[in-house]
Amino acid sequence: VLESTPSATPRLDAELLVGHVLDLSRTQLLARPDQSFTAGQSQDLQQLVKRRVSGEPIAYLTGRKEFMQLTLAVGPGALVPRPETELLVEWAMALLREQMTDHRRLVIDVGTGTGAIALSLALALSDPNVRVVASDVSADALFWATVNREQCGLTSRVHLVQGDLVSWLGTPATLILANLPYLRPDQATGNWEIGREPDVALVSGDDGLEAIRRLLADAGRVLAADGAIGLEIDPSQAASVVKLMEDSVPGLQPRVLRDLAGQERFVVGLRGRLQRNRHAHRMPA
Ligand SMILES: C[S@@+](CC[C@H](N)C(=O)[O-])C[C@H]1O[C@@H](n2cnc3c(N)ncnc32)[C@H](O)[C@@H]1O
Repeated sequence: VLESTPSATPRLDAELLVGHVLDLSRTQLLARPDQSFTAGQSQDLQQLVKRRVSGEPIAYLTGRKEFMQLTLAVGPGALVPRPETELLVEWAMALLREQMTDHRRLVIDVGTGTGAIALSLALALSDPNVRVVASDVSADALFWATVNREQCGLTSRVHLVQGDLVSWLGTPATLILANLPYLRPDQATGNWEIGREPDVALVSGDDGLEAIRRLLADAGRVLAADGAIGLEIDPSQAASVVKLMEDSVPGLQPRVLRDLAGQERFVVGLRGRLQRNRHAHRMPA
């Protein structure tokens, strides 16, 4: 049945759903090809397959998604974290460990969704001098971020804020990270794979750049003199976002970084003394 959906990975989808119903990992499942179902499990599986055929993401059906070292809870109202975003976290981690070492640091994850970026950074950097604040405009997204913060044991270390972009921020931030909505309406309409994820997480104005444009317009006010910004983008937006960064944030030197598929997926900008280090503009190997 799943082969009749537009999913690019029907076999993997089936394995994940069967594993979920049987409470087995994929490896365990593959090691037990003759595993049988109880009547209840078989009914559960049929329901899940029906929901998948109607376009629900696998992660909404299993209720979780792996990201970096975390297993995040996810469901309707939050974007399912994507693997390419892990590279933004790795870039930020390298910057915080190697370049931003000698002062108290404030890291902001704008549009946190499930909390993927903020929580994986906080977990990896168990440094009390790094303060992590994650924000989202959506109460539904913050519900999932709160659940995940608790599950990761990070409630005392990651602060959650409901608000628009960085409008709520009054103190200088060392590092601003954002994977904001960046699609145009025509890229999202009728797209089966993303149709059940919230519009507020996907689409941003007619050109997909409204949230990024507004963030950068306000970032100069809150970015520290030796601070940095890391944004995830649609590859078609690289030149526009570089220009927006140059025009909106004085002293910020932008660079485009690629994802593992070779796509221009991130624009990062460094300010002040960070610019002297060429490595800060590379993805860690
Ligand atoms: C593409 S999703 C990314 C979620 C998460 N950062 C991740 O990488 O999995 C974008 C997120 O930005 C949030 N968002 C959209 N507009 C926003 C705004 N004006 N201010 C703050 N958050 C916003 C959405 O609610 C959504 O959670």
